[in-house]
Amino acid sequence: FEERDAPKPLKGKRALVTSGPTFEPIDPVRYIANRSSGRQGHAIAAALHRLGAEVTLVTGPTRLADPPGCAIRPIETAREMLAACEAALPVDIAVCAAAVADWRVAGESDRKLKKDGGGPPGLTLTENPDILAALSQSTSQRPALVVGFAAETGNVVEYATAKRIRKGCDWIVANDVSPGTTTFGGSENTVHLIRDGGIEDWPTMGKEAVAARLAEAIAQHFNQPSA
Ligand code: CTP
Ligand code: CA
Repeated sequence: FEERDAPKPLKGKRALVTSGPTFEPIDPVRYIANRSSGRQGHAIAAALHRLGAEVTLVTGPTRLADPPGCAIRPIETAREMLAACEAALPVDIAVCAAAVADWRVAGESDRKLKKDGGGPPGLTLTENPDILAALSQSTSQRPALVVGFAAETGNVVEYATAKRIRKGCDWIVANDVSPGTTTFGGSENTVHLIRDGGIEDWPTMGKEAVAARLAEAIAQHFNQPSA
C-alpha cells in the first residue's frame, strides 16, 4: 500500500494552515515569543496534504522540518502572519493552529536598547491582529470552512464554545492545557471538536493522530451530500 494509492478526498481543495509561535520584536536583537512547538499545525498541514489538498503553511519559527508537499510561508510577527494568510486566499479550508502572540511591543525600537543608567525600559504592549477572526469575518474571501483552536484550562468546552462564537469560526478544537496535560510543547493532545452538530470528546492521542482525525473530519465535511 503506497502513499500514491491512498484515497485523496480533498483533491482540488485549497487549504491554509497557521502554525508555530510568533516572534514580536522589542528591538533589533530581542523579541517576545512563546513555547509553541508548531507540532500540531505542521501535522495538520501534512495530514491535509496526504488527503489531496493543496496546502499553504504559514508558520512562525520552529525547529521542525517542512511538511512534504506544502507551500511554506515563513513569518515572524503576527502582522506578517496575517499578511501571508491574506495573500494565500482564496482557500476552501483555513485551520488556525498558530500560537499567535496576543500582544506586541508598541513602538519597537530600531536601535538596540542600551543600559543607560536610567533603569530598565518600560515596555508598552499593544494588541496584535486576530488572524482567525479576520479570516472568519472576511466578507469577500471567507474560506468555506474555518477551524480554530482554543487552548483553555478549567471549563475548557464552555470557554471554547464562547470563543467560537466570538471569532465566528465554524469549528473549534478545544485544547485542554491544564497543568498535568502535556499539550503545550508536548507530543500529545486532549481535545474536543466543537461545531454546529455538537461536541465530540476525543481521547488523548498524539498530535499526528489529532491531525489525521481532523483532516478526515474535514474531508467528510466536504464530501457529505449536503456540503
Ligand atoms: N488566534 C489568531 N490570532 C490571534 C490570536 C489567536 O489567529 N492574534 C487564533 C489561534 O490560532 C487559535 C484561536 O485564535 O486558533 C484561539 O487562540 P487563543 O489564544 O486560544 O484565543 P484568544 O482569542 O487569543 O484568547 P485568550 O488567549 O485570551 O484565551
Ligand atoms: Ca491568545
